[in-house]
Amino acid sequence: MASSNNSKIISKASPHTIMKFKLVEEYIKAWAQKLMLNSSCYGLVFIDCMCNSGVYTYNGETVEGTPVRVAKVLLDVARTYPQKQVQIYLNDNSQEKVDELKKHLPVDEGNFKIIVTAKDRDELLETIGPQLYGRQHLHYFLFYDPYDASINWPVLIPFLRNWGEVMINHMVSATIRAITQVRREATKEKYANTYLTDFEKLIPFGSEKKAYEERVEEIIQVL
Ligand SMILES: C[S@@+](CC[C@H](N)C(=O)[O-])C[C@H]1O[C@@H](n2cnc3c(N)ncnc32)[C@H](O)[C@@H]1O
Repeated sequence: MASSNNSKIISKASPHTIMKFKLVEEYIKAWAQKLMLNSSCYGLVFIDCMCNSGVYTYNGETVEGTPVRVAKVLLDVARTYPQKQVQIYLNDNSQEKVDELKKHLPVDEGNFKIIVTAKDRDELLETIGPQLYGRQHLHYFLFYDPYDASINWPVLIPFLRNWGEVMINHMVSATIRAITQVRREATKEKYANTYLTDFEKLIPFGSEKKAYEERVEEIIQVL
């Protein structure tokens, strides 16, 4: 019983998931170093609004996930630039996962602060988003990494309109595979919200990758 509960908190990672951790870690390292060299940058904010427990298992070994890797990278950066601020927001709607995550994070230092919460992603982003307007000296990076195809665009708007970066991890192949099988109204609504269109209009994308890609291009134009 205890071990099955533990596997809900610490999931197994597949090789491509581990590659995702490494890619985000390397990207953040380069992003932070470049920005900190800029005199108009007073600080960095990293947000993982669906961050999981920070650790995974792979072939019986413990593997660190994105939030733990990024926290370690940004601690190094904060120590190199003590006059600039580094803030990290880590959030997951599972209290048990964030309790596990806290065991693996570095502790705060003068200019380095981690804020860990167990809320719904929308609640967190609705709080942080409006604070970004008029704060050009603060550079933020939002990592939006759901398990499923759900993207709530309205809460992302402030992040897309200010000086920062948004990385959305979205599996195109999962949608193409699943879309023709969807029966539940709630799931249809989720897809309609993600692709900003009526569900019925999405059905052709199930078989046609090109049509899907064109729709994504249209959404990007709208935003
Ligand atoms: C793909 S995992 C995140 C992996 C993590 N970003 C990493 O790279 O290590 C998705 C996480 O989102 C969390 N989640 C799902 N729905 C959520 C919501 N509405 N608000 C906050 N977290 C949510 C799940 O508990 C799960 O841990």
